[in-house]
Amino acid sequence: MSNIDLDKYFKPNLKEARRRTKDVIEELKFELSDAHQKIGVNKTYMIHTYGCQGNEADSESIAGILELMGFTHATSEAQSDVIIMNTCAIRENAENRVWGELGRLKAYKKHNPNLILGLAGCMAQEENVIERILKKYQHVDIVFGTHNIYKLPEYLETALFSKERVIEVYSQEGEIVENLPKVRNHKFKAWVNIMFGCDEFCTYCIVPYTRGKERSRSKDEIIAEVNELVEQGYKEITLLGQNVNAYGKDLDDSSYTFGDLLKELDDLGIERIRFTTSHPHDLDKKTMEAMRDSKHVMPYFHLPVQSGSNTVLKKMNRQYTKESYLKVLDELKNTVPGIAVTTDIIVGFPGETDTDFLDTLDLVEKAEFEGAFTFVFSKREGTPAANFTDDTPIETKKERLYMLNDRTNAGYLKGNQRFVGETVKVLVDGVSKNNDQVLAGYSEHNKLVNFAGDKSLIGQIVKVKITVAKTWFLLGELL
Ligand code: 5AD
Ligand code: SF4
Repeated sequence: MSNIDLDKYFKPNLKEARRRTKDVIEELKFELSDAHQKIGVNKTYMIHTYGCQGNEADSESIAGILELMGFTHATSEAQSDVIIMNTCAIRENAENRVWGELGRLKAYKKHNPNLILGLAGCMAQEENVIERILKKYQHVDIVFGTHNIYKLPEYLETALFSKERVIEVYSQEGEIVENLPKVRNHKFKAWVNIMFGCDEFCTYCIVPYTRGKERSRSKDEIIAEVNELVEQGYKEITLLGQNVNAYGKDLDDSSYTFGDLLKELDDLGIERIRFTTSHPHDLDKKTMEAMRDSKHVMPYFHLPVQSGSNTVLKKMNRQYTKESYLKVLDELKNTVPGIAVTTDIIVGFPGETDTDFLDTLDLVEKAEFEGAFTFVFSKREGTPAANFTDDTPIETKKERLYMLNDRTNAGYLKGNQRFVGETVKVLVDGVSKNNDQVLAGYSEHNKLVNFAGDKSLIGQIVKVKITVAKTWFLLGELL
């Protein structure tokens, strides 16, 4: 289709997205204009969410906007008038799933030519994705990125009434948008964004490009949201940010940091406070002490290490060494005794040698992680590491992954075994996937616990005596 004017759209640019300005980040209050109030009446929507908790939280806002416009949740894809794909760009396989789904969804357009298909999230921020959509995915009607979710009503109006394709992706972050409506997925567990973006620029990672510069929400807005959640009966919040330990560095009072926020939130009456995710070089004593002194911050920490080799860590731009990571970890474990720590590890980073990999195994042994998300390096176009020489065969990378998983799984089991015979507090999530007579929930240390009990306990915090430890979960008896 060579006659399409590819330049009429607002397309992303990764070089532009890398730029960090000193511009003051304004706060913008979302408001639905009168013209958009009723657009969705008698129409239905569905959202497919991929990737991290940040995307899950964004999907709750997308749903909130749609419902404010009058749309209701569809019972099936075939019944939907709007389907939004909220996508992830972190690894190639995450993207491949979305391309496959976009192909599959094309069939629904044949049955319902009025169906609006939208692509949102991190993939939309990538140049090569937009080029491919423009050239090969004509059936995608709306594309918007991570910075302009709040403009969805406008885009839907254009797509529905002018029957025009909308592609609008901003490379620069712009405002923090407050007051976005939300349809939360859970009744007793909630996500709370505390900051957006990332300035770390790890050389393998696309996130600083797709999510923009680090910017913190004001503490007053965060506190107001948490107060509201307490009033609504929520039991657990998870504070979200790509690097929560950098919270507040960009605000006027830069002496108020993540530890201060934890202390303040601890007094609001929410039963459980969790957060994700952290960067080791920003994790400070104040945060550790806030965890130690708080009643409601859970004794669980996800602290991505990525590699145990100092050579690789340097090439990754992680700004710590194996030794300094272990030192911070030691300090954390000493300050918050019994804390459960999990991590993220990448194998097969360009140039990673057998010796580098052995350093990672050694670190895993020393750190005694109680779980890990492990990945094979995925080349992300536009990131520095995409240009690094990478001559390790994929088979070798996979062998390293299997070997690493053996070690991290052993840590998982060992971490679970320490609770056998103990009584733990479990927030009951629902029934177990395999047996609806069995309840499932998470302990304070974030261990999955299964036990027999009545469904009426869902949403409550109960005491369970642990009887058996498996690699992935604990079994227990309700007290
Ligand atoms: N390849 C593989 N894994 C990656 N991650 C981020 N970028 C990449 C990549 N290009 C992993 C990191 C990060 C987690 C969220 O995803 O381990 O902590
Ligand atoms: Fe990516 Fe590193 Fe930022 Fe995490 S800290 S989002 S890995 S750049």
